[in-house]
Amino acid sequence: MFRKQFVNRLYNVGAATCHEFVRLFSTQPGQRLEGKVALITGAASGIGKATATEFAQNGAKVIIADIQDEVGKEAARQLGPTADFIHCDVTQESHVAEAVAYAVSKHGHLDIMYNNAGVPGPIVASIADVDLSDLDYVMKINVRGAIIGMKHAARAMVPRKQGCILCTASIAGLIGGVAPHPYSISKFAIPGLVKSVASELSQHGIRVNCISPYAIATPFALEGLRQLFPQTSEEELAMFLDYCGEMKGVRCEVKDIARAALYLASDDGRYITGHNLVVDGGFSVMKSFRLPT
Ligand SMILES: NC(=O)c1ccc[n+]([C@@H]2O[C@H](COP(=O)([O-])OP(=O)(O)OC[C@H]3O[C@@H](n4cnc5c(N)ncnc54)[C@H](O)[C@@H]3O)[C@@H](O)[C@H]2O)c1
Repeated sequence: MFRKQFVNRLYNVGAATCHEFVRLFSTQPGQRLEGKVALITGAASGIGKATATEFAQNGAKVIIADIQDEVGKEAARQLGPTADFIHCDVTQESHVAEAVAYAVSKHGHLDIMYNNAGVPGPIVASIADVDLSDLDYVMKINVRGAIIGMKHAARAMVPRKQGCILCTASIAGLIGGVAPHPYSISKFAIPGLVKSVASELSQHGIRVNCISPYAIATPFALEGLRQLFPQTSEEELAMFLDYCGEMKGVRCEVKDIARAALYLASDDGRYITGHNLVVDGGFSVMKSFRLPT
């Protein structure tokens, strides 16, 4: 009798889980961010733009914050009347404060702050050659910019006792040897920053997480790769990234990161905080001997 009940229960749990999987990973846009307001830095292009699109398709009002005015305005226009663009350089605290204030004055509140803006910095082969002004430049955008975003998001979110803060980290912040030192150092800082701030903001019902993507052929990644392979076409560079990836037959795309962000920002991720969601097809967890085919 007991065994039969146990098996039935397992079956029910399994069926519910399958149903949830189908719902979560369905390609049909849902309304998982209905009524939410999201501010995304670096959203004129690449991962940020894809995330703005995913969020808007899921019912969110989106504010694209970037230094590329024309491209950013066009991205907002493509998303329709619920999307806006605001000029925002994340190295300028006043710009970030104004972007948050704009979201709150226009929509009444801010639910999601995605600190995504980032730069690769110059290629430097050796620590012996690192120019500290290059390090300062990369840290100012990739780390200090994220801290400023967290600070002003917290000011808007703490009184409401809810909110979600996201950052883009990288596989270069998980393992060494895949990016120049200044960039890698800046991305190692992000999961630490996330854990530190999550520990405080959980007391106010605010979740803080980051996503670590594998390399994707966005303008950002192409800028770095072109310094190494100046004669190579964009498609060849994208193929090179595929070749270096572990997950064969699947190209990592900006929509993969956007969907991870949607998961973390929606109620599906409501009990997740202080987490680094690695979206890298296993790249950072394995090393194997393989000959080129
Ligand atoms: N593409 C990759 O391979 C990859 C992998 C891991 C992590 N990342 C991270 O993803 C994030 C987004 O990069 P992407 O690949 O989408 O590149 P992208 O070049 O397509 O987009 C980056 C955006 O950031 C904006 N930006 C740059 N400096 C800014 C500043 N000071 N203030 C505001 N906006 C600024 C740019 O204008 C651009 O629109 C970055 O943080 C990057 O480090 C990228």
